[in-house]
Amino acid sequence: MGMITDSSTVSSGSAPQLAHPPTPVPRISDPLKAQVESFNFFYANGFQALHGINMPIADNQVTALIGPSGCGKSTLLRSFNRMHDLYSKNRYEGRIILLPENINLIGPELDPIEIRMRVSMVFQKPNPFPKSIYENVAFGLRVRGETNKRYIDERVEKALRGAALWDEVKDNLDKSGFALSGGQQQRLCIARALATDPEILLFDEPTAALDPISTAKIEDLVVELKKTVTIIIVTHNMQQAARIADYTAFMYLGQLVEFDQTNQIFTNPSNPMTEQYLTGRFG
Ligand SMILES: Nc1ncnc2c1ncn2[C@@H]1O[C@H](COP(=O)(O)OP(=O)(O)OP(=O)(O)O)[C@@H](O)[C@H]1O
Ligand SMILES: [Mg+2]
Repeated sequence: MGMITDSSTVSSGSAPQLAHPPTPVPRISDPLKAQVESFNFFYANGFQALHGINMPIADNQVTALIGPSGCGKSTLLRSFNRMHDLYSKNRYEGRIILLPENINLIGPELDPIEIRMRVSMVFQKPNPFPKSIYENVAFGLRVRGETNKRYIDERVEKALRGAALWDEVKDNLDKSGFALSGGQQQRLCIARALATDPEILLFDEPTAALDPISTAKIEDLVVELKKTVTIIIVTHNMQQAARIADYTAFMYLGQLVEFDQTNQIFTNPSNPMTEQYLTGRFG
């Protein structure tokens, strides 16, 4: 009888075993917007979802997080804007440095609400608020205490233009956000995220619920937006990662297996597990 390795007997805090140990993260030549350093994450129930993540985030580039369901993509993405703070027993270890100021995004001294305006998130399912199109976009500005109507008008228009939605809604700003199609609702959520002038935009499978034409629009938009904002996107769609991401991170069992330029990951990965995943042998 062979030895059975039961992962449930691994003591808390030790990393799960990968068939091939992670490939060292290469130094990248692009200027950085953020740097994840020795990052661990523990859910409130004690489960360690992320193990020793080290990852550069290039400024004004698109970084894709890929890997099988449950590998920790959303957990990592949500750490960048402190979404896990909503449950006080969740715990971060290590650092996520925002550059150039060199501030630690997970530092307890920072206000998570302010961080969410600088690092804003777009979810898989479009989630407009039950408010007008205008108020959906103005939301973050109002939270910030902005009251100058002319200023808010300008910001709302700029954000809607940035999300490639202005021409479709400019005559209907008072209509409910729910009156829009799914693809338009997703662009409304992007406009809402853009209104506070974020430095990083986080996307968690933003096109998983959309038709191919709406998906193509969002992909074009992501490529356009990276001129002004750094983008991190979780996707299950390998073609999407290959089309729009400059860098790609392959994760498995809460570890970063391999990180590199996207074309390198897709054409000549260093780690055999990356190749096995990309060729559909697991996941
Ligand atoms: N609230 C929670 N409490 C405890 N464990 C959790 C919680 N949320 C997620 N997990 C676990 O953390 C691990 C990573 O989950 P995560 O949602 O980050 O994966 P993912 O890569 O985004 O998966 P998917 O592709 O299915 O969205 C999984 O094992 C998951 O079961
Ligand atoms: Mg997820």
